[in-house]
Amino acid sequence: MDREDLLRRLNWFYSLEINQVELYKVQSNQFKDHYAGKVFERVAEIEQGHVENIEKRILAMGGTPTALGEVISPIIGMSLGSLMSLTGLERALQLNAEIERKAMSDYKKLVEDLVSSGEDPDGETCILLKSNFIDEHLHTAFFDMLRGNLMEDKIEGI
Ligand SMILES: [Fe+2]
Ligand SMILES: [Fe+2]
Repeated sequence: MDREDLLRRLNWFYSLEINQVELYKVQSNQFKDHYAGKVFERVAEIEQGHVENIEKRILAMGGTPTALGEVISPIIGMSLGSLMSLTGLERALQLNAEIERKAMSDYKKLVEDLVSSGEDPDGETCILLKSNFIDEHLHTAFFDMLRGNLMEDKIEGI
């Protein structure tokens, strides 16, 4: 992997994170009567932090942060617009978790490729990717838990 490949992959994450901010903001309104609506609002803020940290990393490498448009459809086989207009919370949580799992697996793959290629000599990019990975792991677990609670009719949050 060379610098151009790395920039291309970082731009893909940059685009994915932007899509997730848009998605979770819309869903926070869509499901505002549920605890999940508040969760989506908070998760959108965290994803915005990812947009900014990846943007900074691309700039630090001398690249140009480039939003590639909608990168969600190939992950879930449904357009971002369709996902945004879902009215069923259970299905929305399931698809959101799928997107988070894809983000986790791609962050993991990039860390492995960076380590094996030596393209990250100061380790800064790996530190960033691992930190974002942990957030995506939390989101995945939380969405799965909320979906489980919904299916079992358990009390949610506040
Ligand atoms: Fe993220
Ligand atoms: Fe996430």
